[in-house]
Amino acid sequence: MTGRSDVGAVADLRHRYVEQLRRAGVLDRPGLAEAFAHVPRELFLADGFHGRDGARTTATDPAFLPAVYSDEALVTKLRDGTPVSSSSQPSLMATMIDALDPVPGARVLEIGAGTGYNAALLATLGAVVTSLDVQPDVVARAGAALTRAGLDRVRVRLADGYLGDPAGAPYDRVVVTVGVAGISPHWLDQLTPDGFALVPTAHAGNHPVLAVRWGRDGRVTGRVVTPAGFMTAAGPLSARYPGAHPEPLRDRALPEPTVRHPAVWQPALGVHRYHDLWFAAGVWDRRISYAPLPGAGAAGGCALLGAAGDGAAVITTDGAVLGCGPQAGRYADDALALRDRWIAEGDPRAERWRTELTLAGDPEQPIWVPHRWYRAD
Ligand SMILES: C[S@@+](CC[C@H](N)C(=O)[O-])C[C@H]1O[C@@H](n2cnc3c(N)ncnc32)[C@H](O)[C@@H]1O
Repeated sequence: MTGRSDVGAVADLRHRYVEQLRRAGVLDRPGLAEAFAHVPRELFLADGFHGRDGARTTATDPAFLPAVYSDEALVTKLRDGTPVSSSSQPSLMATMIDALDPVPGARVLEIGAGTGYNAALLATLGAVVTSLDVQPDVVARAGAALTRAGLDRVRVRLADGYLGDPAGAPYDRVVVTVGVAGISPHWLDQLTPDGFALVPTAHAGNHPVLAVRWGRDGRVTGRVVTPAGFMTAAGPLSARYPGAHPEPLRDRALPEPTVRHPAVWQPALGVHRYHDLWFAAGVWDRRISYAPLPGAGAAGGCALLGAAGDGAAVITTDGAVLGCGPQAGRYADDALALRDRWIAEGDPRAERWRTELTLAGDPEQPIWVPHRWYRAD
């Protein structure tokens, strides 16, 4: 990657990447397109990444740069086949940076340094960034990449993000780039009075991003910024608590469906609208989570999981409902009622939901979790 033609090829790929993000409508904030055009993502992926099959693509592979400059999350570290670090999907990073509103000079605490690329984008926009990660090798690589990119004023620290960064507080913003079960009280305590935290918070098998803040009345409230999926955090941030949705069913297929209710949408819902339905179903029923869709290969979707683990009903993107297991009919009826309620209530977007949070999890290390959902109408 040293010759003139390589430099030209990278510039061309990066230009097309920025145009793709611009067309997706996520680069409207002044300076954001310039930040994506300026920061070389390949510097933050210098050790390569893993494809869906786990195979590693390195910087000398012809597929490397086209993947680096695509709107894809790239997994940089696996443990026992499970992703434990990555560079998140660029359009999602852009959406979160926009929602974060990082004015120049804003003090931002990032939880989940990963490759350092998101911290680099924030710093390029003028934010003063401290980024924490729980894995020593990840911290070392992110720090080295930031130095290579000339951004060595970003502070990268090895720490469990649960405690935040008391020494560096107060922060104007906290941005969490890993999926958590709930919000650390330390983050809220370390914010300035007008500050807020952007947090991918577990809901129905996904991690929609919530903007969370203290209200003047002492309540903690959140609103949905965007549906999203993230890898799961280590430590107390992933505590289980009573009333949480079931864990996503990733490692085994559901039995063949025996009950089928027909599709209602032709064409099928797009990804975002499907997540709007999925989000609402999760508000209305605590059994909603994620499971592989029967007959859809590895693709997964919105599933109502039976408590006994022997059956479920899934709602597919075209609105069909498939029930399986000994109580297939009952699960399918319940899932059908959720689909029809979403339609009857005017198919609300996920971004319309608001929540009040309550403390849950380990009493020694509590987390704020969504407790009551309502819609901003
Ligand atoms: C999706 S990656 C972050 C992406 C990153 N912001 C970037 O731009 O590349 C998630 C990161 O969160 C880290 N992580 C997981 N649990 C954590 C915790 N409890 N505290 C701090 N970091 C954590 C992982 O080690 C991983 O590197």
